[in-house]
This record gives sequence, structure tokens and C-alpha cells, in this order.
Amino acid sequence: MFDRPRTGERAVLVRLALGAPADPEDLQEFTQLALSAGAIPVATLGGSRDRPDPRYFVGSGKAEEIRLEALALEADLILVDHPLSPSQERNLEKLIGKRVLDRNGLILDIFAQRAASHEGKLEVELAQLKHIASRLVRGWTHLERQRGGGIGNRGPGETQLETDRRLLGQRVRVLTARLKKIQVQRETGRSARVAIPIPSLALVGYTNAGKSTLFRALTGEQAYVADQLFATLDPTVRRLALRGGTQVVVADTVGFIRELPHELVAAFKSTLTEAREATLLLHVVDASDPRRDEHIDEVNRVLEEIGAGDLPQIRVYNKIDRLELEPRTALDEQGAPEAVWVSAAMGLGLEGLQQAIAERLSCAVSRVRVLLPLTAGAARARLYAAKVVVAESPSEEGFDLTVDLPPDERAALERQDGVRVEAV
Ligand code: GTP
Repeated sequence: MFDRPRTGERAVLVRLALGAPADPEDLQEFTQLALSAGAIPVATLGGSRDRPDPRYFVGSGKAEEIRLEALALEADLILVDHPLSPSQERNLEKLIGKRVLDRNGLILDIFAQRAASHEGKLEVELAQLKHIASRLVRGWTHLERQRGGGIGNRGPGETQLETDRRLLGQRVRVLTARLKKIQVQRETGRSARVAIPIPSLALVGYTNAGKSTLFRALTGEQAYVADQLFATLDPTVRRLALRGGTQVVVADTVGFIRELPHELVAAFKSTLTEAREATLLLHVVDASDPRRDEHIDEVNRVLEEIGAGDLPQIRVYNKIDRLELEPRTALDEQGAPEAVWVSAAMGLGLEGLQQAIAERLSCAVSRVRVLLPLTAGAARARLYAAKVVVAESPSEEGFDLTVDLPPDERAALERQDGVRVEAV
């Protein structure tokens, strides 16, 4: 992923504590969301209420305070860290005379900026259109529309806001059809991959947990790493040989966040297929984050939602350098590794992690050298048909193949007359 130019819009942030004490961590996360969208937070206004005001979400006194603050600080927009109803958003915009974006709109905007693949873009556009559809009724006459986009007005929203519901509905149908086609192509691609019995790992975790850093540390790939929320949107898939020869496919996936808008979870279901169809999930956790346990629950909740709740997981506690902890591995009651402490950035504990992965994938594929006699042409053809042959060296006595095999296949080959299987 690449970084986009920052838009530099000045934003007043609004976050209420609803029926519970204000949590500074929530505010910090919201500030980071605003920064990730490219906004410059110029003020933060809070307050507490037992429940939202139906008209403005905040009380009318607070709404007036926001208006004055926005005016004094020459703010371009108001960001509210809660989902607003379309009428609350409209009422606030009318009163304040600035654009108002709720939490869902803000997250959608970040996704719109980050989506790089064709499919990712279509998915975000669809989610944005669905979000906008409920808000179209208001008409946008009460606000002077800004030229050239701006936070919350970028991407498809820019043109679609001016069209009527009928056109919007048409666009939604076109996008849905296109996505369906891509999904069919994706399935075809995946079934080709199924011929190769290689287990797949998917990195999942709360945004900023360090998934891309770990992906890079494991695979040596230059995945995009940034101290930004949702730096990774499209799954990146690479092949990796673990120590001991076990072959795996690793996918880096989108980060999860508290209250991820439902439209997005639904839209990203297909991109998150990499996670849903993984043999093993590496659930990356920022161990130095005081809210790591809540984040773990949130990630598990989204995994449930996308149908990946029952997949085996290894919990990877990352950033132990910040806590000055030593790398270690924790075992479950059956003696299988269930959690590993690492620092992806410092390269600490990665061997332990690789070992834990290999142990959890005990039926995994390993790379071996297979020497077949000249009479075993059929066995050679079968290996090629299964797409497991990595290389073949010329040999006068027979066939000398380098092959990725799961243990049962390896045992079956070893039972054949004249076949030799050696570790490489
Ligand atoms: P999203 O794309 O938002 O989901 O983030 P991500 O989970 O892929 O996180 P990423 O790898 O982009 O890392 C987020 C930040 O944490 C970056 O600033 C990293 O440099 C930092 N980071 C990652 N691993 C470690 C670590 O082991 N120690 C420390 N101190 N920082 C780390």
C-alpha cells in the first residue's frame, strides 16, 4: 500500500461518554482515526450524557459550543465518534454550517483512501453507497458542497451524492454484479490452489497490532508498514518455508477495529475469505496496548461475523520490546502451542513462532527429495498433476524430484518399491 497525500482539513473532534466514565484510550483511538483520514484535529470536545439527544445526538448547549469552537478555529469539518442517525447529522450540519461526519463515515473514508485492488475499491464503494443511501433524503442544499472532495466526500460519494436514489440503486446493482463476477473468478483461482496441499496462515488482528510488520519479518516481504490505522486493506499472500521445511501460504489481512461499521464487515467478507479459509489464524495482538484484551474480544467477534470464529488460532503477543519481556511460548492443556510472545520489529521470538506454527500444522507439507526409479513414470505424472513438484534434476537412474508433500502422501510414496524419500 502506498501513502496518499494528506488532505489537511481542520477538524473538531466530538466524543461523548454515554452512561459511563470517559475513556482516554477511546479518545486516543478516535484521534488516530482522524489523523489516518488525513484530518488535522484542532480541538476535542467531550461531555457526558446518559443517552443521545434525538435531535443533535449531543445536547443543544453542546451543539452550540461545537458551532462556536468550529467558527473560532476555522474548522472545515466536525467528526463525531459515534454512529449518528441521518437526521442528527443533518441537524448538526444545519446548526453548525460545517460538514459533519460520524464514526462510520470516517472509517469508510479511510477505507476509500486505502483500497488498492479492483475488488477492494468496489467493496468500499458499495459500502459507501449503502451508507450514503440512507442519508440522501436530506438533499445537500443546506451545505455548500466542497469542490475536489475532502474527508467523507471522497471517492464515489463525490458524484453519487448528487444523483437520485434511482441512480444510486442502479450503481449498487452494477457493483454487486461486478463483485459477484470477481468472487467467482477468485473461487476458480482458489480451487486451482487447492490442488496444492499447502496449509494457509492468515494474520488477523486489531488495527496497528503489527500484522504487516510480522508478515514482513516472516516472509522477508516489503509489505506496507505504517503507524496508521488500516494501512493494509487488500490481502497480500506469500509463500513461506518454515524452519524444518514446512511449506505454508501466509496472508496479511485488513485490521479490525471497535465498532467496525457493519456495511464494511459485510463488504469485506470476500476479501476476508483469506482469513475464513485459512488452516490456522495468527491472531496478532499489541501486547503493549492496555486495552489488548478488549481488542482480542473485538477481533474474535468480527471473526465470528465472517464465519472464521471456529478456526484454530495462535495468539501472537507482539511488541514485547516495549514491555521488556522475553520471547516465550505458552502451551494449551494438550501441550500444543496456543500463544507466542514476539517482537516483530526487533525480530525477537520469530523462531519460536515458526516452531509453534509447524507444531500446530502437524499434518503440514514439507519439502522433500523424491528419487523414483525409471519404472515409476506414473507416480511422477501423478505428482506433477497434483502440482506439488518444485524442481526436477536430470538423473540417469530415474527421476530426481523436489516435492512439497503432506506426511500421509510421503508415507505412501515411501512404501512403493524402489522409491527413496529424503529430507532437504
Ligand atoms: P493495520 O494495517 O492498521 O491493520 O496495522 P498492522 O497491524 O498491519 O500494523 P503495522 O505492521 O503497520 O504496525 C503498526 C505500528 O506498530 C508501526 O509503527 C510498527 O512499526 C509498530 N510495530 C510493529 N511491530 C512492533 C514491535 O514488535 N515493536 C514495536 N515497538 N513496534 C512495533
